[in-house]
Amino acid sequence: MATPLAPASSFITRPLALALVLVAAALCRPASCAAAAAAADRITRLPGQPEVSFGQYSGYVGVDGDGGGKRALFYYFVEADAPDPASKPLVLWLNGGPGCSSLGVGAFSENGPFRPSGQVLVKNEYSWNKEANVIYLETPAGVGYSYSADAAYYQGVDDKMTAMDNMVFLQRWLQKFPQYRGRDLYIAGESYAGHYIPQLAEAMVEFNNKEERIFNLKGVALGNPVLEFATDFNSRAEYFWSHGLISDATFRAFTSACNYSRYVAEYYGGALSPLCARVMNRVTRETSRFVDKYDVTLDVFLSSVLSQSKTLSPHEQVGQRVDVCVEDETVRYLNRRDVQAALHARLVGVDKWAVCSSTSCSTCRSRPSTSSDRS
Ligand SMILES: *[C@@H]1O[C@H](CO)[C@@H](O)[C@H](O)[C@H]1NC(C)=O
Repeated sequence: MATPLAPASSFITRPLALALVLVAAALCRPASCAAAAAAADRITRLPGQPEVSFGQYSGYVGVDGDGGGKRALFYYFVEADAPDPASKPLVLWLNGGPGCSSLGVGAFSENGPFRPSGQVLVKNEYSWNKEANVIYLETPAGVGYSYSADAAYYQGVDDKMTAMDNMVFLQRWLQKFPQYRGRDLYIAGESYAGHYIPQLAEAMVEFNNKEERIFNLKGVALGNPVLEFATDFNSRAEYFWSHGLISDATFRAFTSACNYSRYVAEYYGGALSPLCARVMNRVTRETSRFVDKYDVTLDVFLSSVLSQSKTLSPHEQVGQRVDVCVEDETVRYLNRRDVQAALHARLVGVDKWAVCSSTSCSTCRSRPSTSSDRS
């Protein structure tokens, strides 16, 4: 039992920000409280950021029982870069992994408004926020800046728990940003989000039907999704073979002796058989490092080829550190103290922000991604 003194003494030791939130909670009425919570998350300006006219917000939403913040998910929200953002839909973007960051991959490497470049951010002219208000969510807890203060939580995380946390996040986020309640909502993402998104959508539809219609879910979009391990991974053999990257004999070995599903399961299960190792070595030798396996027809810079090849063949020693890529720039940028301060981000239980974490799905059947498969 807490003594009457306990709350007061711990109160003093907590950061000022929390004190302000508590004071606000004691004084304001619900509508203005929500506004105050959102205002506290407003980003004044990211270090090195060019001038823009859209609003940016980031911070935490507690997803544990009472939202007290023992387990909290970090989000980065960019309003639409349009004359009338209120006319644009709301999109929740999720990367996969499992365990990869929607902030580092989705926002800063793929479809967000900025890309890190050295000390500064440059505008991405293809940013999705030209058409939508986009939330990038680091999920589940343990990914990026998202955390569980209780590390035991990381032991049992599965897709179902992730879906529930994501739904609670959205529910509470809509309390923080009440002007987005009722807005057309889409969920989009790629790779392992092929698991996250349908499961989140299902939970939202169930909630709407059973409890209260709070999610105006209009649709989902899955890019290059992992849906079924056994079939999805094996498209790789046929793709390589039909594009002339591997011989007929290697194709046969890669489909009958050891297919890619089996290889992935063995590799990430820590028990790679000599047979699968032999088959993959052969595949890797024939496809070579100098083909971008995500797009075999693409012109690529050498550094990019090496980086992709490292990604797709985690067992292969490339023997060279690749640093000319947006992912490295992002890791550097998001580990700057001034950037973390501007984002209202904290590191809890880790020393560094990482693109992908390994704590995020202890019960997945196998681990389909490497640190930059960014699924
Ligand atoms: C892949 O290999 C596994 C194990 O050998 C097998 O059970 C599965 O049916 C194979 N999948 C395909 C698509 O051939």
